[in-house]
Amino acid sequence: MTETKSILDFTAFEQEFLATAPDCQWKELNRLRETEFSRLDKQRQTYLDYTGSNLYPASLITGFQSRLLEQVYGNPHSENPTANLSSLVIEETRQSVLDYFNAGKDYCCIFTANATASLKLVGESYPFGDKGAYVYTHDNHNSVLGLRQYALNKKASIEAVYLNNDYCFSKQELESLLSKYATTDGSDNRLFAFPAQSNSTGIKHSLELIDLAHAKGWDVLLDTAAYVSTNKLDLQAIQPEFVCISFYKMFGFPTGIGCLLVKTKKESFQSSSAFGKLRNNKPAFFGGTVAYVSSNSEPIRHEGKEMLHHPLNAILQFDHSAFEEGTPDFLSLPAVKDGLHFLEQIGIPLLQRRVNALMRSLIHHLIQLKHQNGQPFAEICGGNERNDRGSNILIKFKRSNGVQYWGGTLEKILTEYNNQPGDQYKLSVRIGTFCNPGVNESCSMDQDDEKSGSFSVKLTEEAIHCDQNCGYAGTDYLSILRRKLTDITYQKYSNEKHEEMKLNANRHGYMSGGMRVSIGMATTPRDIFEFLCFANYLLERNPD
Ligand SMILES: Cc1ncc(COP(=O)(O)O)c(C=O)c1O
Repeated sequence: MTETKSILDFTAFEQEFLATAPDCQWKELNRLRETEFSRLDKQRQTYLDYTGSNLYPASLITGFQSRLLEQVYGNPHSENPTANLSSLVIEETRQSVLDYFNAGKDYCCIFTANATASLKLVGESYPFGDKGAYVYTHDNHNSVLGLRQYALNKKASIEAVYLNNDYCFSKQELESLLSKYATTDGSDNRLFAFPAQSNSTGIKHSLELIDLAHAKGWDVLLDTAAYVSTNKLDLQAIQPEFVCISFYKMFGFPTGIGCLLVKTKKESFQSSSAFGKLRNNKPAFFGGTVAYVSSNSEPIRHEGKEMLHHPLNAILQFDHSAFEEGTPDFLSLPAVKDGLHFLEQIGIPLLQRRVNALMRSLIHHLIQLKHQNGQPFAEICGGNERNDRGSNILIKFKRSNGVQYWGGTLEKILTEYNNQPGDQYKLSVRIGTFCNPGVNESCSMDQDDEKSGSFSVKLTEEAIHCDQNCGYAGTDYLSILRRKLTDITYQKYSNEKHEEMKLNANRHGYMSGGMRVSIGMATTPRDIFEFLCFANYLLERNPD
């Protein structure tokens, strides 16, 4: 498509679009794009992977830079002017996080490296026991699935709540699973984990499930990593025990900071609170997490009695510090406060209106694309019209015979598209399974396969096949990455390998190749239009 044609078409597209969504302050969005995200258009980038990582506004970086250039920060684990400054900015940032989520005095905020580190922290310290259980929904991220191992190590039961055809789970099924492990004496710890928004399908689950689980005596781990970039979480309205967040997913920078919000009991960190449960079961201490520690390897005794739990010979801190291992990222943390402020300035309700309007338009145009024989080209997982859809969608592209394109083919065509000569926009979207195997399994599941395990066998075969045949073993990974950026002829697999994998995928009807489009605070109608240009290209290109 030539640039002239694209601009002419875009004008018509934009006019039609603006008429359907008048209340979204699009001029302000254009200004925001010019001032804070101008690098996108300068580089002619269509960025549609906000669920992977948000984009940072320029002002977040200039603010960060001037702070570093003007101030002197020291290690906060000290008492001196530079250390005190670091401690101050860390605590101000912590308070801004608690305020942003309206946590009041009900939560403590533990800074971590990312959402995964927050989840790991819950897994390591949650007091699973042999009569306890870990229940998770099938559309959880790998980092939530990973907690199964901690539950199993402590002999707790684990169960998954499967997805239905609409990529949601049944409330009745969930209730009966939760009831199955309900105990009346509250002695065993049971943890239910679900994503507030699926990072794969974009479907938002009802947060009322939290009360439902509480009523049956369960603790709740809410994964909000994909949700909070375009939704406001109000911790006075709902109160899960644990909430995990990555800040780069909210405003793009800094990339190495997340948090775990843990329910306390009205400012106290009592043993019976969720915080207390974790603290009392933390398997080890590290620098920064102890109120008292001795380096004695023998137990410290007083009148013959062991004073401290041996072999730790330590007492953990009584608040968030018990979990902040090592030196916190005191240079980057203040950027989190600025990022939250930036989101507040835009306003989540306005952002949501824009996201909804852009998504509606994207879906509307995508489902109109048809093959010459009239067969639909794009299917949106979970259906075309839903009120509970967030900022990402999962698309299955289909051939004229109804068979879905395999991910490897989509990747190949996307690379081809991005490498066309000329200065058309380059597209960043995500293809694959997005660390969310459950959605992939549900997408590809035949009725007969359902829960029977045969689907997993097929996938396992594929995984072993890939493991044995397609790795980067013996090659220089860095040079591959360089080639990917510069070499128009670069292919992930040889033509033969590609054909073989495609055959395999077709035979089994594998999904592993949904395309995820996710949008965010800098997305404009132009980005949607550019994606539709790619979809048209794919349709016309009609690869085998
Ligand atoms: C829903 C969800 N949970 C957890 C994570 C893990 O986040 P991180 O990689 O920042 O630890 C992600 C990342 O994509 C996610 O989308």
